[in-house]
Amino acid sequence: MAGLRIDGYVIVSADGMLANADRVMPDQLKFEGDKRFFTSALDRADLIVHGRNSHEDQPNSPNRKRIVLTHGVSAVAPDPSNAKAVLWNPAGAGFEAACDLAGVHSGAVAIIGGPQVFAMFMDRYDTFWLSEAPRVRVPGGEPCFPGVPARTPRQVLAAHGLQAGEVQNLDSANGVTVTPWRRTR
Ligand SMILES: NC(=O)c1ccc[n+]([C@@H]2O[C@H](COP(=O)([O-])OP(=O)(O)OC[C@H]3O[C@@H](n4cnc5c(N)ncnc54)[C@H](OP(=O)(O)O)[C@@H]3O)[C@@H](O)[C@H]2O)c1
Repeated sequence: MAGLRIDGYVIVSADGMLANADRVMPDQLKFEGDKRFFTSALDRADLIVHGRNSHEDQPNSPNRKRIVLTHGVSAVAPDPSNAKAVLWNPAGAGFEAACDLAGVHSGAVAIIGGPQVFAMFMDRYDTFWLSEAPRVRVPGGEPCFPGVPARTPRQVLAAHGLQAGEVQNLDSANGVTVTPWRRTR
């Protein structure tokens, strides 16, 4: 959809994990600086997209339009539990149909995970904002993208035509940074 800008957001451990072995984001991966960055990005977004287990849980969450991926519907349907949400099964309908039902045809879309959802948009990101916590390891955790840890998250993004931009510090004490990976072609 020409009018939509698509950005991805994740924070990963040094070994490329976004959650622990129980598929829960561990406290070790939660940093105030990254939370501030992520919150302000979502406050600017027109639409949030995520899998059924990846709700961002922020004070402004109830105000945001969102598309939730689930096999619980055959195509697209309003979410009976949230007037601002649309349920989407990509096997039955395209992203455009989900955006139509959400009433969003232009503006910024934030893709916030989990791994299968990130993968689905890998060739469509305008920018992927990769936050990294280099002093945290999550052995046996859930990799942020399919193909990790055989390849690093950076290698996966580069293989999909994205290039690293200027690194921003989010938490100097813990070495946490965010890097925009932008599409160049
Ligand atoms: N560190 C970070 O920045 C970060 C980012 C994102 C997530 N996380 C954490 O990582 C964990 C991710 O959980 P998760 O692996 O369960 O991923 P998830 O994508 O949040 O949820 C998976 C569920 O989404 C639905 N889904 C995903 N892909 C689908 C598809 N192609 N078609 C239809 N439905 C689809 C399915 O729901 P149904 O079962 O209803 O069919 C599936 O069970 C969470 O704990 C989350 O908090 C961390």
